[in-house]
Amino acid sequence: AAAPGMQGKAKGGKEEPKDDGRKRVAVFFGTQTGTAEGFAKALAEEAKARYDKATFKVVDLDDYAAEDEEYEEKIKKEKLALFFVATYGDGEPTDNAARFYKWFTEGNDRGVWLNDLQYGVFGLGNRQYEHFNKVAKVVDELLTEQGGNRLVPVGLGDDDQCIEDDFNAWKEALWPELDRLLRDENDVPTGTTYTAAVPEYRVEFVKPEEASRLDRNFSLANGHSVYDAQHPCRANVAVCRELHSPASDRSCTHLEFDIAGTGLTYETGDHVGVYTENCPEVVEEAERLLGYSPDTYFTIHADKEDGKPLDGGSLPPPFPSPITVRNALARYADLLNSPKKSALVALATYASDPADADRLKFLASPAGKDEYAQWVVASQRSLLEVMAEFPSAKPPLGVFFAAVAPRLQPRYYSISSSPSMAPTRIHVTSALVHETTPAGRVHKGVCSTWIKNANPAEESWAPVFVRQSNFKLPADPSVPIIMIGPGTGLAPFRGFLQERLAQKESGAELGRSVFFFGCRNSKMDFIYEDELNNFLEQGALSELVLAFSREGSTKEYVQHKMAQKASDIWDVIFQGGYIYVCGDAKGMARDVHRVLHTIVQEQGSLDSSKAESFVKNLQTEGRYLRDVW
Ligand code: 2AM
Repeated sequence: AAAPGMQGKAKGGKEEPKDDGRKRVAVFFGTQTGTAEGFAKALAEEAKARYDKATFKVVDLDDYAAEDEEYEEKIKKEKLALFFVATYGDGEPTDNAARFYKWFTEGNDRGVWLNDLQYGVFGLGNRQYEHFNKVAKVVDELLTEQGGNRLVPVGLGDDDQCIEDDFNAWKEALWPELDRLLRDENDVPTGTTYTAAVPEYRVEFVKPEEASRLDRNFSLANGHSVYDAQHPCRANVAVCRELHSPASDRSCTHLEFDIAGTGLTYETGDHVGVYTENCPEVVEEAERLLGYSPDTYFTIHADKEDGKPLDGGSLPPPFPSPITVRNALARYADLLNSPKKSALVALATYASDPADADRLKFLASPAGKDEYAQWVVASQRSLLEVMAEFPSAKPPLGVFFAAVAPRLQPRYYSISSSPSMAPTRIHVTSALVHETTPAGRVHKGVCSTWIKNANPAEESWAPVFVRQSNFKLPADPSVPIIMIGPGTGLAPFRGFLQERLAQKESGAELGRSVFFFGCRNSKMDFIYEDELNNFLEQGALSELVLAFSREGSTKEYVQHKMAQKASDIWDVIFQGGYIYVCGDAKGMARDVHRVLHTIVQEQGSLDSSKAESFVKNLQTEGRYLRDVW
């Protein structure tokens, strides 16, 4: 499906570059949470300071071209381009790079047409995932295949470690190349390090009387024709209940958002993005550390009083204001992830105790690399925990929101209902994230905690939006399917089964369906047990295969059950059926993939490499689909 376009931005501006003798560099980004965009902008800023005779244009890949043909037309004219592209989930591009990626990877008849292009690619990914930085690797290879000249090896940023270090290392390799292409004799000599100033929003404090007059905080009115991450829909919580039995020491919530009358629609298998708030104790801790009173109102701006952009326009638009300190921290600040090195530098700048400043600077420096990796990343120290260690570092709000705390991101859930059963509700199945970090902090997931505590009687609501997915039932209901989804991996399959039940009720002939579900214990976390039995009775589901991992003396996982049912699975594949996997990408989906490979190899009497291309082929045909995280 095409990525939803970002609203509020001009699409595919057509202005032709004037020739003023300056060399032009296009810096493209495909971003989801803003990291790729941040790197793209940081590089451009640094490069602008370095090369007087060059211009750097930072472009959202979606905004670059309104039509696919325009990509070709415009890229052909580029001489020097840098790409910052992130890889998500099952090796997918970000929403704003999806259209470009599809166009670029699917057009195999273009031949060699990029002879004039010099390029570099930096990828953002996570090594724990199977398709580590797939998008960056593919873009990098295709650019070369189509004639482009690679300036530096593709950068493989790893968010599992320190992606800023990877970015810096890639930049160090890139500078000599850019020096060669862009340097003018008047430019600053190479070797000089450029340290960018700490960015800062302009903040003005407002009297409460004035603020309430101007207050736009609660103006999230519905009625957009398209809802997306920038324009979410206000949705009330209609139902919220626990799915685990009291005997379980974990928690999983069934929550329903009421979307009646909002105009928001969804399809079975889509995702819902949910914006929630930090819980009160986290917000109070942040207020204390920053030293602001929670009821103080302020306005926040990315431009100067004269309307000129701050920091050369590199700051993203801030959140709606006036707003109180409490609400800004609750809704917009990511306080529980580990701080980036750039955040430590910003904190150091505002530390009144020189010992704090020195130590913060050290942690962010190349010499402090190992300690940062250990003390911050591996220990999962949150921004608040780090700030608590350096109490003299109290940055002003404009710095805090621009350079210290990243923007709190929406969380995505696989929708667990089908519009054919629940047209005015979006169901979510959310496992509570509640774990003790190596440093001893109890980490409570921001969104899952909010979901668990939501209360229809107290009129809980959240801004939400729908993200389309390719995770769809076959168009023909008579095609057999296999679903594999332990734990909350069950979510989209509950939607699938609701849809199949509706299809059956309207007279469709249903193909065979098998669902492999796994949980720890049939008495504790066997979620939606009654509903699954009902789907069986009603014939929406043909067979339910269960793996309980903590009942017997040995662990039983869904993939063990798959191995036992190898010939059934092979039959479904052979009959043109579909295989769906949903759930944890790092463990379960990876293991299931291996077992599937073995099944194909053994049942199909293929050697390992033939089996591999067979499975690849299933994936390309869209008959082996994964919704994994
Ligand atoms: P465990 O917690 O006992 O290890 C849903 O979370 C179910 O998935 C649980 O029964 C869990 O078992 C199981 N699970 C954990 N890791 C898995 C893996 N790599 N493959 C399949 N199932 C797994």
